Amino acid sequence: MTATELATTELQRHFERTIEHDQRIEPRDWMPEGYRKTMIRQISQHAHSEIIGMQPEGHWITRAPSLRRKAILLAKVQDEAGHGLYLYSAAETLGAERTDLTDRLISGAQKYSSIFNYPALTFADVGVIGWLVDGAAICNQVPLCRSSYGPYARAMIRICKEESFHQRQGFELLLTMMRGTSAQRDMVQEATNRWWWPALMMFGPPDADSPNTAQSMAWKVKRHTNDELRQRFVDMSVPQADALGVTLPDPWLAWNAERGHYDFGELDWAEFKQVLAGNGPCNADRIAHRRAARDNGAWVREAAAAYAAKHAEGQGR
Ligand SMILES: [Fe+2]
Ligand SMILES: [Fe+2]
Repeated sequence: MTATELATTELQRHFERTIEHDQRIEPRDWMPEGYRKTMIRQISQHAHSEIIGMQPEGHWITRAPSLRRKAILLAKVQDEAGHGLYLYSAAETLGAERTDLTDRLISGAQKYSSIFNYPALTFADVGVIGWLVDGAAICNQVPLCRSSYGPYARAMIRICKEESFHQRQGFELLLTMMRGTSAQRDMVQEATNRWWWPALMMFGPPDADSPNTAQSMAWKVKRHTNDELRQRFVDMSVPQADALGVTLPDPWLAWNAERGHYDFGELDWAEFKQVLAGNGPCNADRIAHRRAARDNGAWVREAAAAYAAKHAEGQGR
């Protein structure tokens, strides 16, 4: 064994011990290339989801039914922008470039959560997105606060606190509508019918179809499998639906005393694959909107870069 090989083996062992002891890998630490690539992929796809996720609800900011609802929705959508920015920064600690990640999002080389390719058709959707979409995001993200990659884990702690505000604002909006007119109650039920199944798809393909899960669990960048998290979400949502007085659109949904969990129907995986492949109801719109935002903001980035260059010049004198 050469000296370099010996040093690499030592580093590899140190990396494995860090993970074994549930300690964090930090940007300065040696890490296997596969781990670095997996983390860049996971963190940037998460960042893209936060940024694209601003669109379905952002659409309703100018049409919110009251000043109070508008202020709440603005704050929520701004939080999502903040989440995207923390996460792009976390990806940068691994050597990724934010502009490059944005280009990959726009070119379709990198994905974002399939859920944001569905339209928000009524104001009840704002409530259902908060309740179910942010609720599913919390199930996915709370375990990520213990991700083995330090900057990601720390970003997730703050993000999860804000997500729980998002979930509650959605639930509170729905509760208000359910106490309103029968037309409002119908709107909530109709929005629930449209979002329930796509929300279950947010946990990704079934475990048997999820090739990266085993490696991600071994690296402790993932703590539970897709099916475990999906089950947890279903179990959590049923009593919430009861409290609201809405019906979840699944005739197979039933308590299974033996398993201690709710049974539920089969997801439409063909639809999931279609949406992931870019053929969901809003994929093209979402990307076109993101591309326009990037192009329209070019002058701001250029001005900031010119200012930074001028400042650096002044410092050198
Ligand atoms: Fe978020
Ligand atoms: Fe959120």
